Amino acid sequence: MNKPLLELKNISIKYDDKLVVKDISITIQEGEILGIVGESGSGKSTLIKSIIGLLGEGGHIVDGKIIYEGKDITNLNKKELMVIRGQSIGMIFQDCQSSFCPIRTIGNQLYDSMKAHMKVTKKEALERGEEILRELNIKDPKKFLNSYPFELSGGMNQRAGIMMAMASNPKIILADEPTSALDVTVQAKVINELMNLRKKFGTTIIIVSHNMGVISLMSDNALVMKDGECVEYNLTKKIFNSPSRQYTKELINAMPKLKKEII
Ligand SMILES: Nc1ncnc2c1ncn2[C@@H]1O[C@H](COP(=O)(O)OP(=O)(O)OP(=O)(O)O)[C@@H](O)[C@H]1O
Ligand SMILES: [Mg+2]
Repeated sequence: MNKPLLELKNISIKYDDKLVVKDISITIQEGEILGIVGESGSGKSTLIKSIIGLLGEGGHIVDGKIIYEGKDITNLNKKELMVIRGQSIGMIFQDCQSSFCPIRTIGNQLYDSMKAHMKVTKKEALERGEEILRELNIKDPKKFLNSYPFELSGGMNQRAGIMMAMASNPKIILADEPTSALDVTVQAKVINELMNLRKKFGTTIIIVSHNMGVISLMSDNALVMKDGECVEYNLTKKIFNSPSRQYTKELINAMPKLKKEII
């Protein structure tokens, strides 16, 4: 087996005094898609935010290590994290529209975000944006980049979020419920486009979703979480074909309809 791209070793996380992620270990190879699934409050977002230092006030990794390309990135300072965030690991948020500034065009925000991490001209930034937007099946990328967030639909804002995360060509994309705000047909499209990015650019993806259909369709491996703990971590196929835990069976049974619609 190749050297892993990212490893979480026995990670535990507290918000103030409350333990919300308990002893989670995962290993991700380059080009892999890992799905993380579990009920609300199980610690999914906390776990992926910890990878790039986005836990915010009161959140701390209290145990364990995060290793990226063989390097311990658990305790990087803000400046070092900025470099990782800009160039190596990108994040797509659940509700992209609210993470954009409402009074600046998508193209200007793309340029702002890229120049914070790297040397880039506006022209280069916009060209990179257009390249990704074409991969996301946007017919008129120039017009898209000249739009304000409020002029775009939910699905289009989500694509803008994907474009921002992909702009600096990161090795890993962390996608926190990237499609849950969208209706089912748009969800399916965005999922296909994300998978296409892996095919085209070899991007490694960690996707968090409530939706077992999304996880089964997209991921190679899956982590099932409950109350901050790992319930099951295995090949996605194995988890779906022969779940070893009752909780996983319940999750699968609870979502047959959604699963069918997405697939
Ligand atoms: N900023 C915060 N301050 C204090 N507690 C927090 C904070 N963020 C999350 N938590 C707590 O950590 C636990 C895990 O939350 P988290 O958001 O990681 O769950 P989740 O699995 O992503 O849930 P959802 O599916 O609803 O997004 C919850 O008990 C939550 O209340
Ligand atoms: Mg969450």
